[in-house]
Amino acid sequence: MLEKAQQLKLQFEEKVNTAKNPADLEQLRIEFLGKKGSVASLMSELRNVPNDQKKEAGQIINEVKQFIENAIKEKNVELQKLEEERLINAAEDYDVTFPITEEKGSYHPITLVQRELEDIFAAMGFSIEDYDEIVDDYHCFEALNIPKHHPARDMQDTYYLSTNQLLKTHTSAAQNAILKKYTSELEADRPIRVIFPGRCFRNEKIDACHENTFFQMEGVMVDKDISISNLIYFMKTMLSEVFQQDITVRLRPGFFPFVEPGFELDIQCTICGGKGCPSCKDSGWLELCPCGMIHPNVLTAGGLDPEKYTGFAFGLGLTRLAMMRYGIKDIRVFNSCNLKSLSQFENATFTQPEKEVK
Ligand code: PHE
Repeated sequence: MLEKAQQLKLQFEEKVNTAKNPADLEQLRIEFLGKKGSVASLMSELRNVPNDQKKEAGQIINEVKQFIENAIKEKNVELQKLEEERLINAAEDYDVTFPITEEKGSYHPITLVQRELEDIFAAMGFSIEDYDEIVDDYHCFEALNIPKHHPARDMQDTYYLSTNQLLKTHTSAAQNAILKKYTSELEADRPIRVIFPGRCFRNEKIDACHENTFFQMEGVMVDKDISISNLIYFMKTMLSEVFQQDITVRLRPGFFPFVEPGFELDIQCTICGGKGCPSCKDSGWLELCPCGMIHPNVLTAGGLDPEKYTGFAFGLGLTRLAMMRYGIKDIRVFNSCNLKSLSQFENATFTQPEKEVK
């Protein structure tokens, strides 16, 4: 038994020196110390040893077992260190001329349009604000002159949450907070000029033209003597920049309880110049942006005196504008997570809205 144990020890010593990494070592541990390993089979031979020698033989085997266990532990520490060194060396040993093959990310088309608009409005003195996506009934409706049970609530199919809150159905939900936040501008004899882009949600049936999640960019301007002419001027300037050509606009009456008068702003079709084509359904005009003069009740709710101040508000459909800007025909592309489709716009110049995006 003594001889066999010594042999086993020798065998292990030889092998342990050949282990090059933690995986090799684990293999060895199983081979020697595992349930069906060499030490275990030596133990099972104990039953053939005469009784008076059993104790001594058992001790010998235990010593070998202890030896192997300790040796594996030590070797493990040594191998871990080597592995760390190898990784460090490998990291230092990189080739700066190696071509980078990984794919580059790109901005989402809505982000691109949003940033473009932000730059245009910032250049016209507008501040940019972010607002919550989860809001309460007061901000989304009541502060906007839409009392409970008002039929205008049916214009927007709302997602209500169990917390008595809701997902904002339009960026107008931020108007009240923005007016309050920027009152100091008026006190300092400066106009309030703010845009606030954001994601909106409505319980819509999804098809090529409708989404339940879409983006708007709201804008407000308030001061003494702000009129519809100011509204038209800002919208025209902004749209001419976006479409990189002179844009003709027209206003049609539109109903929104938070503006009076309210309008739908149309732009003359950028494809046919107003003659009529499939893109504008032969009308020569494209509906783009609801807007109007802020209702006195909304100014009052925002802490402003409607006798003293007037202002305009607009709710530009960012998703819509991105579709027109890049010629995207199916709104579902935006939320599709289809990187192949979404990554093709970053370097796109102005595209006529005819290209089909798959
Ligand atoms: N909030 C309105 C909507 O989403 C749009 C709008 C904004 C209309 C501002 C007028 C003024 O339907």
